[in-house]
Amino acid sequence: MSTATTTTTTPSGPAGREQQASTRHTKRHLLSSADLNREQVRAILDTASEMHGVQQREVKKLPTLRGRTVVNLFFEDSTRTRSSFEIAGKWLSADVINISGKGSSTSKGESLRDTVLTVAAMGVDALVIRHHASGAAQQVSQWVDAHIINAGDGMHEHPTQALLDAYTMERRLGDLEGRHVVIVGDLTHSRVVRSNLITLKTLGARVTLVAPPTLMPSGITSWAQADGFTLSNDFDAVLPTADSVMMLRVQRERMSGGFFPTAREYTVGYGLTRARLDALTAANPDAVICHPGPMNRGLEIAADAADGAQSLILDQVSAGVAVRMSVLYHLLAGGEGEDS
Ligand code: CP
Repeated sequence: MSTATTTTTTPSGPAGREQQASTRHTKRHLLSSADLNREQVRAILDTASEMHGVQQREVKKLPTLRGRTVVNLFFEDSTRTRSSFEIAGKWLSADVINISGKGSSTSKGESLRDTVLTVAAMGVDALVIRHHASGAAQQVSQWVDAHIINAGDGMHEHPTQALLDAYTMERRLGDLEGRHVVIVGDLTHSRVVRSNLITLKTLGARVTLVAPPTLMPSGITSWAQADGFTLSNDFDAVLPTADSVMMLRVQRERMSGGFFPTAREYTVGYGLTRARLDALTAANPDAVICHPGPMNRGLEIAADAADGAQSLILDQVSAGVAVRMSVLYHLLAGGEGEDS
């Protein structure tokens, strides 16, 4: 999706009202957050804002994708992403089918390529794919003609998560230009942080990554220098300057060795504890707290922080539907499309 163009049109708005100079881009796929320039991110977030209104309606249905078929192909577990893509597709009147690795012929040894070619041969318009291998979505986009949306590929990227995070923070904080977003935790295994770094830079936010040295990915120092974000091992030093604190899940299922001595020590150094919540509130009462979910309560985030007034965690879930409606709309109803 690196060479796509944008077109400015004035259609009836996707949510059924007049849309002024709506920008619909003609990309074929969403594989990486780097596929989207600022104008395209803005177009997706602006459409998501319209789509969000559908959630408040009694009849949650738009005709936009009537006659289109979207397949959710999930080879890794998911609650939020899969169900929100399903709801998003259904609210846009697409036919939505869910296939998971566990219940499919993958368990009989069928390869990813054969599975994807089989599904595509049925005539699907879009494949939303989650896979444990980094680069899986990119690979799939070269095998089939359907639109491909990356719903999380290994430790690589999760672009719709970054879009919904930006959308959620903007709704509370306003324009993210110059805002300080502090992302804390298991950076090594996080696809969320990679996509967020790209999208937040695109929107002009200032980002600091905080983690113990053992959970700083290799090469992060040169990436930070090149892309202008900051690294720290000291959560308490960074916390008072944050407009948004995004806690990352400790991904124990991806850890083969000991990345920290004990859960207790991790929490003491890098958990958003009650004491740190108080420090954040004292320094900036308007600061917000995000977490992509699922959470390890008591490990990286205390219940007081997850459930308090500053938490946007359920807002992120709600935004996930609107943002994914917007992404489906822009990819499937946004024009003829270009090769990426
Ligand atoms: N944030 C996220 O991707 O959650 P799920 O794994 O539940 O989809």
